[in-house]
Order: sequence, then structure tokens, then C-alpha cells
Amino acid sequence: MLPSARPGWLCCLLCLCSAVRSLRIQQYLYFQVLSPGDIRYIFTATPARDFGGVFTTRYEQIYLVPADPPEACGVLNNGVFVEGQIALVERGGCSFLSKARTVQEHGGRAVIIADNAYDNDSSYVEMIQDSTSRTADIPALFLLGRDGYMIRRSLEQHGLPWAVISIPVNVTSIPTYELMQPPWTFW
Ligand SMILES: *[C@@H]1O[C@H](CO)[C@@H](O)[C@H](O)[C@H]1NC(C)=O
Ligand SMILES: *[C@@H]1O[C@H](CO)[C@@H](O)[C@H](O)[C@H]1NC(C)=O
Repeated sequence: MLPSARPGWLCCLLCLCSAVRSLRIQQYLYFQVLSPGDIRYIFTATPARDFGGVFTTRYEQIYLVPADPPEACGVLNNGVFVEGQIALVERGGCSFLSKARTVQEHGGRAVIIADNAYDNDSSYVEMIQDSTSRTADIPALFLLGRDGYMIRRSLEQHGLPWAVISIPVNVTSIPTYELMQPPWTFW
């Protein structure tokens, strides 16, 4: 069969898929920390480009649990806390996909991977699949290094095992959104 004889529906499907994909590249996804109070801000994250799922529900209150060990390349010591919650993971040591799979295997609903460049408040890394043919089903988001660091530091200072967050947040419905971004974003 000649390529031009491809059925019309296939073309539509291909167009649709590439449109959805390019949409996801530029998309930001927002979450708000509710507690602890000193980091009660709206944070901006970016979904992985070609792996992981999407949020099908909005979590009004869910725990954001820093993974132990932070890079989440193997079994988690605090896996019981991650189950049914969202894990905060650090970049490095293994692929983004491996981290997402670790969290998924521990029953996490999603994973937020913060850059390991703690002073970087500007560069969003596009997370793509590794060279394996593995997949992950849970949403995987990238967070700026400084944001991840500030969340971890706050939890350490308060001796808390997790933050409470809302995710995803529709910022167009929040008139004061600009004021609710982390202050260190404007350095
Ligand atoms: C953040 O990372 C990007 C990419 O690695 C780099 O170009 C940029 O200079 C970094 N910014 C800071 C403040 O470190
Ligand atoms: C976000 O909020 C705006 C303004 O309230 C609304 O028009 C829009 O439909 C909302 N989007 C989603 C995805 O809920």
C-alpha cells in the first residue's frame, strides 16, 4: 500500500497526537503548599515530555513527601509515607523515568523531581524517557532547584516528614496568583 493511501482517520490521529504532545511541552502545572506556613506559595512545575500520566483528579490536600534517599533510585526508606501521596525527589543518580517508577512502585500518586542545582531559579529541564523501553503511569513533574531546596529546608527546620499541598492548581482562577509565587523567584 502506498503511503498516500493511508486512511484519513490515521492522519487525524497523528495530527491530534502531535498537537497534544506540543501542548504538553509548553504547559506549566501549578501546585500550592498549604503547610508549613512559611512556604505557603504557588509553585510552578513542568510535566515530563514523553512519559508519565496526567492528573485526572485535583487533590485538595495531599502530602508531598521528600523521598529518603532523596534521589529515589532504589528502595525508599520512607516508602510507607509515600504510598497514596506525592514524592519530592532530587535529580541525579539515575534517570527521571527510573525515579518515577520507584515512586510508582511505592504506591505514590505522582512524583515531583527537583533540580539538584539548588541555586538555579530559572532553568526548567525537559524530562524525557531514558533509553529503556520502560514506562511510568503516574504524573512526573520537574521543579526548579531552588524551589525544591526551599521546600526541603523548611520541612527540615520544622522537623516535618511532609508538606501538605493542593495539586493541580488553576492559577487563572486566582486573582492574586502573582503575589502567591515564592519571593525568591524574583531575585
Ligand atoms: C541554571 O541552569 C541553566 C542550565 O544548566 C544555566 O544555563 C543557568 O545559567 C543556570 N542558572 C543559574 C542561576 O545557576
Ligand atoms: C480555570 O479557571 C478559569 C477562571 O475561573 C476558568 O475559566 C477555567 O475553565 C479553569 N480551567 C480549568 C481547567 O478548570
